[in-house]
Amino acid sequence: MAKLIVNANEVITLASEQKGPRTKQAMGEINVLTGVAVLIEGEKIAGIAPLQQLHDEFPHLIQDAEIIDACGKIVMPGLVDCHTHLVHGGTRENEFNMRLCGATYMDIMNAGGGIHSTTLHTRAASFDELYEKTYAHLNDFLKYGVTTVEAKSGYGLDWETERKQMEVAKKLHDNHPIDIVSTFMGAHAVPKEYKGNEDDYVNIIIDHMLPQVAEHKLAEFNDVFCEKGVFTPEQSRRILLAGKKLGLIPKIHADEIEPYEGAELAAEVGAISAEHLLVASDEGIKRMADASTIAVLLPGTAFFLRAPFARGRLMIDSGVPVAISTDFNPGSSPTISLPFIQNLACLNMGMTLEEVLTATTINAAYAINRGDEIGSLEAQKKADILILNVPNYKQMQYFYGMNHTHTVIKNGEVVVKEGVLV
Ligand code: NIG
Ligand code: FE
Repeated sequence: MAKLIVNANEVITLASEQKGPRTKQAMGEINVLTGVAVLIEGEKIAGIAPLQQLHDEFPHLIQDAEIIDACGKIVMPGLVDCHTHLVHGGTRENEFNMRLCGATYMDIMNAGGGIHSTTLHTRAASFDELYEKTYAHLNDFLKYGVTTVEAKSGYGLDWETERKQMEVAKKLHDNHPIDIVSTFMGAHAVPKEYKGNEDDYVNIIIDHMLPQVAEHKLAEFNDVFCEKGVFTPEQSRRILLAGKKLGLIPKIHADEIEPYEGAELAAEVGAISAEHLLVASDEGIKRMADASTIAVLLPGTAFFLRAPFARGRLMIDSGVPVAISTDFNPGSSPTISLPFIQNLACLNMGMTLEEVLTATTINAAYAINRGDEIGSLEAQKKADILILNVPNYKQMQYFYGMNHTHTVIKNGEVVVKEGVLV
């Protein structure tokens, strides 16, 4: 049966003639329609137009469509969280407390905590334990209006566990309403066993892990933590180019803690995105603009690590397409709240109310190569649609720190109603 959303005060479509991720002033053009209804047929959007026009164009569909009354609220595309470390064992609240007492993120990691601690928990967890834990996290994402999540492996650092993480993500993609897009990140840290022999681990990734990821189609992207004390730009380049040869699209954790020419490397290897970029150089930003590399900014991480925020305003003005995301992970950003991340981006990176919507919908969709399917409300795109408890989009960030999600429609099905999972 078709569905028809009526009585929306605003329908924010994010639709545009321009294909590809939005840049510069186009990031602020979100396309707010009034006086229109949204018609859904099956998993897709059939049309968005004034009711009479939909009646004329789709008489049979409209006749017995289920009516969803938006009651003067706003309607927008489902949010896309394009950078998370979704599947992992355990939590790290003790490290948070250590950081509050003065330890730094890298101190903790170099002392064997941080990513290494989560690696131990993830190795020890069974498939089913990881599945159940992550399923619960996904329910929270959905309640906050997120309908697609990118998920990185990288807490195994051995093939067995990396594979387990990606297979958990695959099963969740099949069984949970949220769509999951997988990224292999065997190069998230050098496992303790390889300290002093870092290149041996790099070779294992290149010779053993990447070919299996590609052969078994376990991921679409290949990501590296290019950071002082983790992987050098040269090691990162080798890993990213080896993956690219096998059809895995490069992504890169770049310039997160110390400047390391990660943005430059992203542009050089043709990465779809460079992520974090807290301390990216002017030259790196310029090269990303020239190469149309998407900047995936993660202000929750800067907030939680009390680090300087990425220069989002400068990146947008320089012509870099910007997306924003939670970076959901147990160390540097344990939040699933993309609306809170939008708020941080407004208040700490100089982004406008319109730009943060673009950055969490259509540009985030492009950052995971899904820009043709999701991220905007347009005929023939997926019916991933939110109804939010506000009468206009400007109130979303004005009433901050709250979850405004009222209804979530995923693949044409109502999965959250009045804020509650169906
Ligand atoms: O994106 N920087 C590397 N990876 C994550 C943090 C992972 C962790 O602390 O567990 C990040 O910030
Ligand atoms: Fe990350």
